[in-house]
Amino acid sequence: MQIITEPALMQATAEKLRLHRQRIGVVMTMGALHEGHLSLIQQVRSVSGTVILTIFVNPKQFGPDEDFHRYPRPFDQDAAHARAAGVDYLFAPSVESMYPEGFQTSVRAGSIAEGFEGMKRPGHFDGVVTVVTKLLQITKPHTAVFGEKDAQQLAVIRRLVRDLNIDVEIVGAPIIREKNGLAVSSRNIYLSGEQREAAQVLYMGICHARREIEKKRTDLFGIANEIERMIAEEPGFRCDYVAFVDDELFVPAETAEPDKKYRLLLAVYAGNVRLIDNCLFTA
Ligand code: PAF
Repeated sequence: MQIITEPALMQATAEKLRLHRQRIGVVMTMGALHEGHLSLIQQVRSVSGTVILTIFVNPKQFGPDEDFHRYPRPFDQDAAHARAAGVDYLFAPSVESMYPEGFQTSVRAGSIAEGFEGMKRPGHFDGVVTVVTKLLQITKPHTAVFGEKDAQQLAVIRRLVRDLNIDVEIVGAPIIREKNGLAVSSRNIYLSGEQREAAQVLYMGICHARREIEKKRTDLFGIANEIERMIAEEPGFRCDYVAFVDDELFVPAETAEPDKKYRLLLAVYAGNVRLIDNCLFTA
């Protein structure tokens, strides 16, 4: 595995790979790799001759109250995981090389980025689409895989690629879950043993939705309220939001229309730890 830190060198390398007709797959991360990231690498490897992993803690997607400087950066451990997972190139640029003095252009995400996580973190998705655009330009992939765990991010990136005619296939990778159904996330390490066990209530909510939708219930608003109540009954748990959305536009959906796709979104506080989860349903 080759480690590259200079955007220009990464771009020239990607160009050379393309000239040699290599299919390039990329997984973009902010490091602190876990099982979920490794499954994205596996997925991209199955469709690509060359795998590039990017590790870049992007300051532009952190709000003023979010601690960019305290974000974990276990680089040596990440590099070892990447090597073991069969990554060919690890691209890990510095902030200065990605945003050199004079940098002033950014990409703005549209209305799809306004609700839910976008409402909670103003400007966050603008930072994401700006860095994703740069990383796509630098790594020149044929395929880029993003986790469905961050469903709104995936929808925003799909929109970006469509709107700006970026020539890359965006693939969504399924959520990896722990044995009790809890979605794997770098935040799970902040949960106590008890909270981790109790956090299966999010998955129980998803299972409740699945059962009700299979019964052809169409009042999505009612189902979301029932899930909210289930979660609120768990001591120390508090819902930020539980809602169904139209999967493409990310606008709330109250009543299901036959055969349409809806995504259930959950954001829940377990103590101080904010957990997100989601699931796609066809009505
Ligand atoms: O999901 C992430 O880790 C980040 O938002 C991404 C896509 C790597 C952009 O910084």
